[in-house]
Amino acid sequence: MAIKRIGVLGSGIMGSGIAEVAAKTGHEVILRSRKLDTAQAMVSGLEKSLAKQVDKGKLSDEDRTATLARVQATDDLDALSGCDLVIESVVEDLDVKRALFAELDRGVQADAILATNTSTLPVIEMAMATERPQQVVGVHFFNPAPMMSLVEIVRPLTASDETVTAVTEFAAACGKDPVEVKDRAGFIVNALLFPYLNNAVRMLEAGTASRDDIDTAMKGGCNFPMGPLALLDLVGLDTSLAILDALHTEFKDPNYAAMPLLRRMVSAGHLGRKSGQGFFDYRR
Ligand SMILES: NC(=O)c1ccc[n+]([C@@H]2O[C@H](COP(=O)([O-])OP(=O)(O)OC[C@H]3O[C@@H](n4cnc5c(N)ncnc54)[C@H](O)[C@@H]3O)[C@@H](O)[C@H]2O)c1
Repeated sequence: MAIKRIGVLGSGIMGSGIAEVAAKTGHEVILRSRKLDTAQAMVSGLEKSLAKQVDKGKLSDEDRTATLARVQATDDLDALSGCDLVIESVVEDLDVKRALFAELDRGVQADAILATNTSTLPVIEMAMATERPQQVVGVHFFNPAPMMSLVEIVRPLTASDETVTAVTEFAAACGKDPVEVKDRAGFIVNALLFPYLNNAVRMLEAGTASRDDIDTAMKGGCNFPMGPLALLDLVGLDTSLAILDALHTEFKDPNYAAMPLLRRMVSAGHLGRKSGQGFFDYRR
C-alpha cells in the first residue's frame, strides 16, 4: 500500500515537525487540531520554517510553494476520512490517545493505517481501542523531526506485516532511517536515554555539580551535541515526566523513578523551551 495522504493530529512540537517532514517529501498533509486557529498557526509556523530554509539556500522557492500547497489545516476530525495514514501526536496521556483512536477508527477509511507518535505508552492499548488492531502501529519520530534521521517503527502484537512494511516504506520515503522495535515502554532510544537524563536531575538535586557544569561535562566528555538538562528542556519537562512514569510503570526500575525536582518543575509550569523556562531560561 503506497501512503500518499497523511493526517497529523496534534499541534505541538512534534505534530508540526512531522507535518513539515511529510509535506516536504511530497505527501499531502491534513493537519488537525482541536481549534482551527491553532491548526492555522501551525501552517504559519511551517511557512516561516520553509522561508528560513529558502533564505539559507537549502530549499528552492518552487519547492517551498509546492510544499505549502500540499498542506491543509482543519479542526474537523472527519476531514481525515480519506487519509492513507493518520499519525496521532497529541499529549502523552493514554486515556486521551485511546479515546482519539476509537474516534479515528469510526471516521477514517477502513483500509487506512492509524499510527501513534507516543514516546513510551503501550501501542497495543491504542490498537485495542479500534476495530482494526492489525492496522495500528507506532511511528516514533524524534525531536526536532525535520532534523533527526531516526524513526522507530513500533510493532504491537496485533500489527500485520503489511502495516509494518507500509509505514517502514513511508518513513524511508520521508528520508528517514527506520528501525523496528517491539512494543515495550521507551522502545529503543528512550528506554536507554531516560535513566541518563533522570540521573542528571538526581545529580543536580544532590548538589554534586551545577547545572552548567553537568551539561558542559557531558558535551565535552562524551562529545554529545547537548547536555542532559538542555535536552530535557527541548523534549519538554511534562513530556519527559510522562515518559519516565510510563517506563517506571512498565519496568519498576528505580532509574526510571522520576526525580522530585522534575515533578515539582512540571507542577510549577516550568516545562522547558515551550513554556520559556525549564532548567534554563528562554524568555530573553
Ligand atoms: N517532545 C518530544 O521530544 C517528543 C519526541 C517524540 C515523540 N513525542 C511524543 O509526541 C506526542 C506529542 O508530544 P509534543 O512534544 O508534541 O507535545 P506538546 O505538548 O508540544 O503538544 C501536545 C499537543 O496535544 C494537544 N492536546 C492536549 N490535550 C489534548 C486532548 N485532550 N485531546 C487532543 N489533543 C490534546 C495539545 O493541544 C498540543 O497540540 C507525545 O505522545 C510525545 O510523547 C515527543
